[in-house]
Formats: sequence, C-alpha cells, structure tokens
Amino acid sequence: MIFISFALAACLALLVGFGDASIQIIPGATITAKGTNQHLQAHGGGIIEVNNLFYLIGENKLNGSAFQSINCYSSPDLVTWTFVSKLLTLQSSGDLGPNRVVERPHVIYNDKTKKYVMWMHIDSSNYGEAKAGWATSDSVCGSYTYGGSVQPLGYQSRDLNLFKDTDGSAYLLTEDRVNGLRIDRLSDDYLTVLSPVYLWPELYSYEASAIYKNGNTYFMFASDQSGWDPNDNIYCTSTSLTGPWSAWKTFATAGSKTYNSQTGAVVNIRGVPMYMGDRWKKDNLMTSTYVWLPLELSGTTATMANRVNWILNLSAGTWSPGPSETTPEAESSTNTLSSGAKSLDCSGCSGTKDIGYIGGPPGGTLTFTNVTSSVATTSTIRIAYINGDSTQRYANVVVNGVGNVVAFVPTVGSTPMSSTLTVPLNKGSNTIRFEGYNGGWGPDIDRLMVPIS
Ligand SMILES: *[C@@H]1O[C@H](CO)[C@@H](O)[C@H](O)[C@H]1NC(C)=O
Ligand SMILES: *[C@@H]1O[C@H](CO)[C@@H](O)[C@H](O)[C@H]1NC(C)=O
Ligand SMILES: *[C@@H]1O[C@H](CO)[C@@H](O)[C@H](O)[C@H]1NC(C)=O
Repeated sequence: MIFISFALAACLALLVGFGDASIQIIPGATITAKGTNQHLQAHGGGIIEVNNLFYLIGENKLNGSAFQSINCYSSPDLVTWTFVSKLLTLQSSGDLGPNRVVERPHVIYNDKTKKYVMWMHIDSSNYGEAKAGWATSDSVCGSYTYGGSVQPLGYQSRDLNLFKDTDGSAYLLTEDRVNGLRIDRLSDDYLTVLSPVYLWPELYSYEASAIYKNGNTYFMFASDQSGWDPNDNIYCTSTSLTGPWSAWKTFATAGSKTYNSQTGAVVNIRGVPMYMGDRWKKDNLMTSTYVWLPLELSGTTATMANRVNWILNLSAGTWSPGPSETTPEAESSTNTLSSGAKSLDCSGCSGTKDIGYIGGPPGGTLTFTNVTSSVATTSTIRIAYINGDSTQRYANVVVNGVGNVVAFVPTVGSTPMSSTLTVPLNKGSNTIRFEGYNGGWGPDIDRLMVPIS
C-alpha cells in the first residue's frame, strides 16, 4: 500500500511538473495581448520585473514608424500578456508631437528617488536631431512625466539603452554616428548625463547596445549598422565598464543574422540571461515580432542557439527546451469544415494545403475534432497560418467550448507564420474550432503544433 501511494505521489508530481512545462516562449510569433486583442505593440523595448509581475515597455508601431505611444503590458510568466497602459502619448507638438521618432524606451528604477526613469531616442522624422529624452513616473506602468531631451555631453545620440549596475549607478548606452558607440554615466537621480565612461570608435559602426552583468563580468552586446535589416550581432566583455574590453565576437550562429533579429535588450529573468531581439519588418513595422532567447554565459563566452520554443521555470530560475509536439494538419480529413471554409493550395504550407474562408459573412468554421494531450494542463499551442492582407486578421478559437480571440499579423508570400495561444487542454481528446471574429475573415490555417505533454 505504502509503496503504491509513493508511486502515485511521484507520478502526480511528474504530471504537475510536466503540466507547467507546456507554457512556452515562442520567438518570432504573433502574440495576442489581452485587453487589445492585437499583436503586442512594444517594439524596441525591454522587460522590468516589479512585485512578481513582468512589464514589457516598448514602441507602438500599429500605425507605421512615427511616434504613436509608448505601451506597457504585464505578464506573470512572459508568455501571456495583458495591455496595461500607454506611458507616453502623442502630443499636439514638441518632442512627442506628430511625425516624430520616439524609439527604444528603457526603464530603470531609482532606489533613492523612488522613481521609474525612462530614457528614449528622440528625433525628427529624418533622424536629424539625434537626441536622448527622459521621463519619470511613480509607478512602472503609470503615467510618465516627460522631462525633455538633450544631445548627451554634446554628442549625437541614436539607438540607446540603460544599464543599472549592482551598486545602483546607472549608465546611458548610446551611439554617436560621428564618434562611435558610448557608455556614459548618469547622475544619481538618473536624469542627467554626467560623464563619458567608454567609447568604441565609429570605425566599428555599432549600435543597439545592451549590457548584462554576470558575476564580475560585463557583457556588452551590439549590432552592426544595417538599417532595419538584421546582421550578425556581436558582444565583448570586461571586468570594468571603463575597460579594457575584449575584441568583438558573434554570439548567435554566424551568418544567421542573429536569427533575423537585432539586439533590443538583454535582461535578467530570475537569473536567466534573456536576449530580447526585434525582428523588424520594415515594410509594415507593426508586424515586427519578438525574438526572446536564453543566452548561455560562461566565463567570458556568450552563446545563443535558435529555438522554436522554450520553457522558463521562474521559481527555479532555469530554462529548458520546448516539449515534443503533435502537428495536426488543418486539411486532415478527420477535421470538420462548415459554411464555406475550404481547402486551398499553399506552396509554403506543410502538405502544400491550408484551410481558408474561415469566418466572413458565411461564417465558415474549421474544427479539429481530436487534438490530443497526454495530460490535463495549460499549454502553448502554435497556430501556423497565412494572412495575405496588409492588416491583422482575427479568429475566435474555441478550445473545448471556451472562446479566445487570436490575432494574426500579415504574412509575406506563402510562408506561414505562427500565432500563439495558451489555453487549458484536457487529457486525451480536445476540440479546437476556428471561427471568424466580429464578422471578419480569419486567416488561412496551415496546421497546429501542440505539446504532447
Ligand atoms: C521548476 O523547478 C523546480 C525546482 O527545480 C521544480 O520543482 C519544478 O518542478 C520545476 N517546474 C517545472 C514546470 O518544470
Ligand atoms: C496614422 O498615421 C497617419 C500618418 O501619420 C495619420 O494621418 C493617421 O491619423 C494615423 N491614424 C491613426 C489611427 O492614428
Ligand atoms: C484521437 O487520436 C488518438 C491519437 O492519435 C487516437 O488514438 C484516437 O483513436 C483518436 N480518437 C478518435 C475519436 O478519433
């Protein structure tokens, strides 16, 4: 008896562990925010943890490149995100006025003044002003008071970032197209740029920097200058911000262009160093996605593998690769189609078919009748889709009777993208039905990728 209950307890513990383990971070996916039902609009930003919630702060690109707002979203797990508020909004004139560049907002907390301090790139639409602006707030995701903008220490400032050291001192990381990539010291209240700390001369042509401190080693990450297009990003190390810094090296697979992304931030998520890259889509910036990947740091070496999906264990401060999956095809004959939904040719889709005409006036539906999971758990499902429009499509995805609005940003050509959906699954068979949302057409569905356990 005792032996059996031990075995049962061990088995249950295993199931609970596996259960949590199916919530995954999916680099490069459409991520639907609760509260807007739209793809996350927090580009070029970073993540800060406050009271056990993670806040993602970045640029709203919903309506093109000109400044619209700085957005803030919250998440307990870095997988499911809820829109909270706009921290800065479009003004009638000035730095935050029409047709302005307001990019790469980064926020750090000042323990002495008890203010959240944001610095961001402030510019005219032709990038002629090259300034850094600041704003402050009493709460991380509250309303920020805009302070103004400067050319720090009299130098141009473009892509910028912040680094708060373990002793509370803070630094502006910036790029001056004339002289080079800089680290500058901020004042104790973080509102003034005080003095130069280090300069990489412009012959390197680097930008988009981020610093991560691992033990006593500072890792400095940066990108080459290639506009919105990605390149092989690089890093160097030092035991002091004043140098000497090592030579620059790549950390992602050489030639992969940092898995088609550019460094936005490198953040410490409960001890896991996480790269936050932007996969910019210059022709439709709102469709840009987020490439968040675990960095492996050892001594003075940084490496980063590409991953379709991965799992953060927040309580342990560890991460692991994603689970194995089933890949049910939309065009499978075991699925049910209604009201005009039908199979279409799609050369880039698996099986070269997908299911289109979902939603719209006829109200077409696609139902996967038997999506299996080996445990009852909350899982992150990837939905491979095509959306040939220039704006988002939406679907109501009904999982075992519960509806979820999912956004699908435009895709290019016949190459599918993935949208994520994190939902409870039953042990055994699950029914997943795709319907239109608000009378609109849904995307064409290629297939699902569903964690097995
Ligand atoms: C997270 O790590 C802790 C400690 O190692 C472990 O007990 C727990 O099962 C892990 N959770 C998941 C979901 O793997
Ligand atoms: C989008 O941007 C254009 C051009 O900057 C502007 O005319 C328009 O009002 C904006 N639309 C919204 C919804 O903000
Ligand atoms: C559902 O799929 C599972 C696994 O492929 C299979 O064993 C089971 O027979 C299927 N059930 C139905 C009702 O088709």
